[in-house]
Amino acid sequence: MIETKEKFEFSSKNQIKADQYISRYPAGKQQSAVMPLLYLAQNQNGGWLNQAVLEYIADYLSMSAIKVYEVATFYTMYNLKPVGKHHIQLCRTTPCWLRGANSIAEAICEKLSIKHGETTPDGKFTLTEVECLGACVNAPVVQINNDFYEDLDKKSMKKILELLQENSTPSSGSQKQRHTSAPQSGPKTLITLGEK
Ligand code: FES
Repeated sequence: MIETKEKFEFSSKNQIKADQYISRYPAGKQQSAVMPLLYLAQNQNGGWLNQAVLEYIADYLSMSAIKVYEVATFYTMYNLKPVGKHHIQLCRTTPCWLRGANSIAEAICEKLSIKHGETTPDGKFTLTEVECLGACVNAPVVQINNDFYEDLDKKSMKKILELLQENSTPSSGSQKQRHTSAPQSGPKTLITLGEK
């Protein structure tokens, strides 16, 4: 069930952004902007969407509330209950699973003493298992808020959590220092590119 909360409305800054999203679509097709508007509202509302927010977006886009609920309940990028300050989304789909997602889950559960779907008592971390995050080439992968942490193992996962616990900012991207998704031993193709 989606929880209720008092009134919600966009901040003036987000209202400008919302209207920019809407202006990308032809007149009368404002409903097409429902996804970015929900995401904007979620960020403003502390990382989750409650009934007041969903109804506000429905009104804002002149669409029925049920249509907004359908979108919000379909995609895992929308949270329908409060999440911790650091929302850890752990990919468990095949490439990440083959590359050790289970041990990453173990590292998180051991370090934070929570299970899938739970939030730490201090409200700092929530763990959610999700399907493919679209970074399979650097599996296994977790997304924490808007950052991706890739090429993980148990040790690097625990280190990242430790830094977040200390309010430090861990480096995102490959934890094996790969350049994007290039081979760890350096480039194998196009190596003469740019040579005369
Ligand atoms: S399977 Fe994990 S990012 Fe695609």
